[in-house]
Order: sequence, then structure tokens, then C-alpha cells
Amino acid sequence: AGTRRRSLEVGAENVRVRRSAGTPSLGLVPTMGALHAGHRALAESAVAGNDVVVASVFVNPLQFGDAADLERYPRTLEADAALLEEAGVDIVFAPSVEEMYPGGEPEVRVTAGPLAEKWEGASRPGHFDGVCTVVSKLFHLAMPGGFDGGRVAYRAYFGQKDAQQVAVVRRMVKDLDFPVEVVAVPIVRDADGLALSSRNRFLSGQERDAALVLSRALRLLEARAWAHEPLNPDDAEELIRSQPLVELDYLDVVDTDTLEPLAFNCRETPFTGEALAIVAAKVGPVRLIDNMPLRAR
Ligand code: PAJ
Repeated sequence: AGTRRRSLEVGAENVRVRRSAGTPSLGLVPTMGALHAGHRALAESAVAGNDVVVASVFVNPLQFGDAADLERYPRTLEADAALLEEAGVDIVFAPSVEEMYPGGEPEVRVTAGPLAEKWEGASRPGHFDGVCTVVSKLFHLAMPGGFDGGRVAYRAYFGQKDAQQVAVVRRMVKDLDFPVEVVAVPIVRDADGLALSSRNRFLSGQERDAALVLSRALRLLEARAWAHEPLNPDDAEELIRSQPLVELDYLDVVDTDTLEPLAFNCRETPFTGEALAIVAAKVGPVRLIDNMPLRAR
């Protein structure tokens, strides 16, 4: 770990590092650094499931709409490299902006499409185009080469915390035939329920307490789903609106893959099957997102 490399060529020697039985494999963990236990869970899943793991640390200017947000994004590369090494990551790829985008921003980009226009995309125009463009580049830069004519399994790890990012990347992989398997890792939360985020550090103590209402609202819906009750989001929404420091953007129950609101009337129909509850809100200076998979028991 700690290796800074412009291009990545993972050869036969590397692939034998933790070589067990079965198809040799490489796991990729894309991040923007400022790493916490949520990122660590991604790295650990990748290490547990693959012979070689590459983690990237790159604050991608293309996915920030706001120059001030990009400017203040925390950069903690030394601590990040130490965390990744401890998690068992083999290679840390931390390119500069000039290395990733020589000659300025790329002319050819990936367009994320309709799935990226709703929810987070609605308040962050161009965000998912920027994500897809950089993720495509990272998929190519870290791509394992086969050896002895054999195949190398290639997996990329994304957090369920950014559920729309997972859906958009899965769609890109499907539509553009990337030879990558996308693995989604469950959300890591603080003991009190707040989903870990690199942006939580910008919350005051009071704002942090107020932010807990988001995971509480999601848990309310989760309990209804378990009990096969109708998923009326109104009470959950009311709970959030009762907290003056929290400015709700959206709260809804959607299909996990398409992110479309459920086709049936969730206020009246008893819940069966699976769905995803999603929420976004502004708390003080920070926009927070959270979500909860819903499953009838
Ligand atoms: P970043 O915000 O650094 O997140 C990197 C990965 O960590 C993402 O897949 C994100 O979903 C996951 N993650 C963050 N918080 C988590 C939590 N509490 N529990 C589980 N996983 C969590 O997402 C990005 O960077 C960028 O858009 C990127 C994909 C790197 C492209 O630039």
C-alpha cells in the first residue's frame, strides 16, 4: 500500500499473492479519500473476496457542481493509505488531477441517462455523468490482464450508502458491457444510527443530533415492512419535519433497481416483497442522504 502509480498492470506474480482455489480475481474499491469505517468495510469485503485489491483515492472534480464544495472536500491521503494498508489492500492508486485529466477535463464523457436525473441527480445536475466518467476510467486503469490464457475475475465494490450511485453504475456496466461485477456493500452506521459520511465532520453537535431523525424515519418504514403493513411515508415525513434543523428534500419508497416510486398504492396496500426507502435532507451546511432496504418478513 502507499504505492502511487500512474497505470496499473497487475501481473501473474501479484495475482498469486493470496491465491486460493478457483478463478484468480481482482477487486477494485473506488473512493475519494477522507476514509472512515464505511470505506473500510468496502476494502475488507474486497480483500476477503479477491486475490489482489486495488483502492483508488481521487477527489474527482467532474462530479462536483460547486467549486466551494470541491475546495473544502477533506484530503487526508496519509491516513487513508494507512487505513487501506491495515484493511489488507495491496495497491493504493492516488493520482493527481493532472494525471487523471491530462490537458484538462476530458472531451468525451459518459452520460448517465434517465436513472441519474431523479433524486440526487435532480439537485446535482451532471453529478452522475462525472461519476460514470471517472468510474469508467478507473475500471480501465485497474483492469486485470489474464495470464497463461486464463481469465481473471474483476469485481468493483460500492457502498449501498449511495444507492443511486450503485444503480447508475450497474446500469452503465450493463449498457456498456464493462467486464466488471458490481458488488454493493451494506451501509455502515455509527452506534446511534447516523450513516457514516466524509461530510459528517462538518456537522455541529446539535446538527448531528438533529440528523438522527433521518435514520429513525427509515427505521419506522422498515418496521412497517417487516410487519407487512402499508408503507405510509407520511408519518416518517412528519417525524423529519418536526426537527427544525433538518430541511427535508425527499423521502420515498422506490424500486431498488429503477428507483421509480412503487407502482402500487403503498399507503393502502399491505407490503410484500422488497423495496428501498430513500431520504435526503440538508442539515446545517451539509446535504445528507440515507436509505434502507425494506423486506417483508
Ligand atoms: P466516496 O464518497 O469516497 O465513497 C466511496 C465509496 O464508499 C462509495 O461506494 C460509497 O457508497 C462508500 N461509502 C461511503 N459511506 C459509506 C457507508 N457509511 N457505508 C458503506 N459504504 C459507504 O462515492 C464516491 O466516493 C465517488 O462517487 C466515487 C465512486 C469514488 C467516484 O468518484
